[in-house]
Amino acid sequence: MSFIQFQNVTKYYNRAVVPAVDHLNLEISKGEIITLLGPSGCGKTTTLRMLAGFEQPTAGEIRIGDEVVYDDRRSLPPEKRGIGMVFQDYALFPHLTIEKNVMFGLNKWKARDKKKRVQEVLELVGLGDFGQRLPSELSGGQQQRVALARALAPNPKVILMDEPFSNLDAGLREKMRFDVTNILRKANATAIIVTHDQKDAFTVSDRVVVMNEGVIQQIAAPKEIYRCPVNCFVAQFVGKTNLISGTLCPDLKHVETHFGRVCVPQQTNQESENVVVSIRPEGCRLAEYGRYAGIVEQATYSGEYQELHVRLQSDHTPNQPMVIYAPIEQDIEIGSAVTFNITPELVALVN
Ligand SMILES: Nc1ncnc2c1ncn2[C@@H]1O[C@H](COP(=O)(O)OP(=O)(O)OP(=O)(O)O)[C@@H](O)[C@H]1O
Ligand SMILES: [Mg+2]
Repeated sequence: MSFIQFQNVTKYYNRAVVPAVDHLNLEISKGEIITLLGPSGCGKTTTLRMLAGFEQPTAGEIRIGDEVVYDDRRSLPPEKRGIGMVFQDYALFPHLTIEKNVMFGLNKWKARDKKKRVQEVLELVGLGDFGQRLPSELSGGQQQRVALARALAPNPKVILMDEPFSNLDAGLREKMRFDVTNILRKANATAIIVTHDQKDAFTVSDRVVVMNEGVIQQIAAPKEIYRCPVNCFVAQFVGKTNLISGTLCPDLKHVETHFGRVCVPQQTNQESENVVVSIRPEGCRLAEYGRYAGIVEQATYSGEYQELHVRLQSDHTPNQPMVIYAPIEQDIEIGSAVTFNITPELVALVN
């Protein structure tokens, strides 16, 4: 049985004509780390706040463990839901030491247990020697670990983190993704993390929930989201892709496109033969005698790879050029002819 369950949860804010969250169904297992991923305004924070009890759904049911925390008859207050929340700005008390900050949620504990628990969680987040400092005496990443320690201290059933990495610069962000995941795993926590950054979502979570306009688009492990996006929105939101329309062949394993046949790996239950395929740029590999041919119109260096825009030979209509990632060491001139193959594992049928 799932540990957290949203059942048909819908939220209309006052006077809104469209819901912020629309018939959301989601089940989360104990110990799972889930991210809610989607563009600004898609309902991620609203979902988190409804679970925490800070916002009331308009309809639906929410369960944590074997307890219904919200339905049309009851709403458990936030402090009774056993949730630890880490806010985007960490919300540490500036005038209190790190130790006192972490102690904050433990006011019902005995003094001796309190001290022991504070030291335990500070050690868990790698700040065992920092208890006597003030928040202003810590770096951004350290402050975030204090916020996480404070949330974990009372042994909550669930940890919620809203945009936990958005205040950090690129290098620290990468480290904190790793640290936060490790800490959550060590604490055996069940966690929901909100982000609009694909890399955050992919690196920290067991499963990713992609949302758009209040509606869940896909729930799957990171690799599956990337390799088999279910629709154009997901394909485009998580990384770059080429969306190309074509006709599904009777064998259901190939699609006829304007530049030739493309193999699609996964079985489909598509009813129409008019389909769209998503082909990832890194799934197109330059080759000496590749199956597909075109002329390089543009080459941009990103440092890790070069992004080529290739006008396909067979392309007599004003289609978008194909985006292909090529290795950085390869010298490619604008206007040169190239051929390439497509890796089927990075091709997906999308709706
Ligand atoms: N208190 C509120 N009153 C009215 N409308 C709200 C309120 N909070 C959010 N909304 C609206 O609900 C929708 C979803 O907002 P929400 O904050 O959940 O989005 P989000 O996915 O967290 O976005 P972001 O990535 O920008 O934080 C938006 O259209 C927003 O304008
Ligand atoms: Mg938000």
